[in-house]
Amino acid sequence: MQLEQARHRAEALRQLINKHNFQYYVLDDPSITDNEYDILMRELIDIETDFSDLITPDSPTQRVGVSPVSELKEVKHLAPMLSLGNAFNEDEMRAFNKRIKEKLSVNSLVFSGETKFDGLAVNILYENGLLVTAATRGDGSIGEDVTHNVRTISQVPLSLFGENIPHLIEVRGEVVMTHKGFTALNDRQRDKGEKVFANPRNAAAGSLRQLDSRVTAQRPLAFFAYGIGEYKGKTNLTSHTSILRQLKEWGLPVSSDTKRLNGIDACLSYYAEIGAVRSELAHDIDGVVFKVNEISQQRELGFVSRAPRWAIAYKFPPLEEITQLLDIEIQVGRTGALTPVARLSPVNVAGVTVTNATLHNIDEIKRKDIKIGDWVYVRRAGDVIPEIVAVIKEKRANVSDFNMPNVCPVCGSDVVRQEGEAVYRCIGGLSCSAQNIQAIIHFASRKAMNIDGLGDKLIIQLTESGLISTVADLYSLSKEQLVTLERMGEKSAENLMAALEKSKKTTLERFIYAMGIREVGEATARTLAMRYKSLELIEQATTGELETISDVGPVVAFNIYSFFQQKHNLEIIQRLLLAGIYWENNEDEINLIFSGMSFVLTGSLQVMTRDEAKQKLISLGAKVTGSVSKKTNYVVYGENAGSKYEKAIELGITTLNEESFIKMLEKEK
Ligand code: IVH
Repeated sequence: MQLEQARHRAEALRQLINKHNFQYYVLDDPSITDNEYDILMRELIDIETDFSDLITPDSPTQRVGVSPVSELKEVKHLAPMLSLGNAFNEDEMRAFNKRIKEKLSVNSLVFSGETKFDGLAVNILYENGLLVTAATRGDGSIGEDVTHNVRTISQVPLSLFGENIPHLIEVRGEVVMTHKGFTALNDRQRDKGEKVFANPRNAAAGSLRQLDSRVTAQRPLAFFAYGIGEYKGKTNLTSHTSILRQLKEWGLPVSSDTKRLNGIDACLSYYAEIGAVRSELAHDIDGVVFKVNEISQQRELGFVSRAPRWAIAYKFPPLEEITQLLDIEIQVGRTGALTPVARLSPVNVAGVTVTNATLHNIDEIKRKDIKIGDWVYVRRAGDVIPEIVAVIKEKRANVSDFNMPNVCPVCGSDVVRQEGEAVYRCIGGLSCSAQNIQAIIHFASRKAMNIDGLGDKLIIQLTESGLISTVADLYSLSKEQLVTLERMGEKSAENLMAALEKSKKTTLERFIYAMGIREVGEATARTLAMRYKSLELIEQATTGELETISDVGPVVAFNIYSFFQQKHNLEIIQRLLLAGIYWENNEDEINLIFSGMSFVLTGSLQVMTRDEAKQKLISLGAKVTGSVSKKTNYVVYGENAGSKYEKAIELGITTLNEESFIKMLEKEK
C-alpha cells in the first residue's frame, strides 16, 4: 500500500472504530458484531505497523497500554476541583433549598438530579478535541497524572467528535468499576494468587493509580462525566442539563439516571426513586447529587470554602460495614444441600441489624479465604441475604479453619459431594428431618399450595409432635388434634383447617412446583403444566422427551424423571389427590396471557420498579429481555429511556409508557 492510500484508510478506520466505540460503550447499542469490530481493529493495527508515522495519539490502537512510568507526575488543574456539601436527611435538604432560594430571592428552583458515583474523580483535559491529560483530584488544585491509564478506558473518547468542539475543556467525572467487573477481577486476582480488593471503589482506585497502564488496560473500569471545569468554546452552555447533553453529543458517557427536577419535592422523590433501584445498578453509588440547573444562578451563589453553594450530595446509608465472623454453621435445605452460614457479631448495615450472612458453599469460603474469627466486610444489597465481601487480612489473629462435616449435623446421615458439584448433600432424604421440614415449608408456601397461616414454626411444631411426617399428612389433620398443640387456640385451629380446605383447589403448575423437585422452580413448573396439561403425562415423560422442552436441560430432565420414579413420591401424590386436591385443566392458560411474547423494559418506572414489572410479566408468561430486536413485541419505557426506546421506534415496535402498560395489565386480568 502507498503511504497516501494508507493514510486515508487509517483515518477512515479510526473514525469508524471510534464511532463504534461510542455506540458500544456510551450508547450501549452496538451496530456491528465483536468479530466485525476486531477485523477493523486488526486492519488498522496492520497499517500502523507498516507505517508507524501514521500513528496518531487518538488512534484506538493507542489505548492498550504503554510502558510503565516510574512515578505519577503532578498535574495542576486549570479550574479547581471542588468537593460537595452533604445532607443526611430531609430536613437538611429542605434547609439547603431554603438557603439558596433566599440568597437568589426566588420562589422555586430547578435542579439537576444525578447519582453520586462511588469511585474516583478525574479531570480530563481536551484541547481542540484531543485528550491531552487526565488527572486524579488530588487536593483539588493539584492531582496525579493518570493520562496513560485513563486512555485505556474504552468509554473515554481519545478525541471528541461532533459540532462546536471547544478549544479547551476540562471534563469532570468519575471512574468506577461495575460489580460484575469487580467480581470477575477478584476471581482472576485470586486465581493468580494476587491481592483481592475489598470493594469496587478500592479496585478502581488501585487500577487508576497503576504505573503500568498495561495492567490498567486489563481492569474493567468505567467512566461517567458529570460536569466541566475550565472551558473555552463557542457554544453557550447555560444550564447543567445542557452541559451534560452537550458532553454526550461530543461522545462522552453520561449517566442515563440524570433528571431535571422542578423544586425540592421532586428532588426528594428522586432520592427515594434512586434509593429503590440502588442495588440493581451496575455500579456502586453512595447518594444522589442535586445541582442548581441554571449556570447564571450557580454563578450568583458561588462557593463556601471548597464546596459550591449550588450543589449538595444527599447521602445514602452505607451498604457495607465491618464486623467479626464468630462462627460458621451448617443449614440443611430441602434438597439436602448443606449451606454454610456465617454467624456475625451483630452490625447495623443501612438501618438493618445483620447477624448472619450466606457463604454459599465451601468453594466460596476457600475462594474468599474466610476463617472463623476473621474481621470481614459485610454487604447488604436490596433484599438479598447479606454477603461477606472480603476478609480484612491485616486484622487476622486467632482464627481457625472451617471444614465441611462428613455427616449431616441434623440426621447423622453421610454427606456426599458429587463430581463437579460445588455443594455437599446429606443423603438422608425425607428421613432427614431438616429436609423433610423444609419440604413441607416449601409445599405450604405462598407460590406453592398457599396454605395461609401454616408457617415455619407451626410446621416444626407439627412434625416434632409427631402429628405429621409428610405433606400428605397435612390433609388428615383434625381440629381436635390441632388444639392439643401449644399456643394453638380453637380459633387458630379452625382457621388452619379452613386454609387447608381452601388450598385443595389449586392449579397443576402450583402442584408441580409444590412437589419441590430439585431445580424445578415456578417457571419450569409452569412450562411443564402448559406442555403436558396433565399430571399423569408428566409422570410418564422420559428424560429425552423432557429435554425437548425449552429451558429444560439434561440435569433438570433427569431430576423430574427420577422424582416420578420413586414409589414414595407417587404414594404421596396419590394420597394428596385422594384427600381432595384438584385443579381445573385450563386455568393455567387463562393466566398466561403474554405467553410467547417478548418484552423489553427501559428507563426508570415510577409506579412499580423495573424488577416488579419484570416479575409480573414473567408470571403472565412473557419473556423479558435486555435488548430490542425484531423479535421484541413491546418496549415499556419509563423516564430517561434512551437508546433502547429509540431502537424500538426505529424498528417499528409498539412502545408503551408506564401508564398504558399498567392499563394493559389491568385489562388483561
Ligand atoms: S459534582 C462542583 N457530581 O463526589 C461539584 N460529584 O464529594 C463537584 N461525585 O469529588 C462534584 N458523583 O468525586 C459531582 N454526579 C456527581 C458526582 C460527584 C460522584 C464525587 C466526586 C467529588 C465528590 C464530592
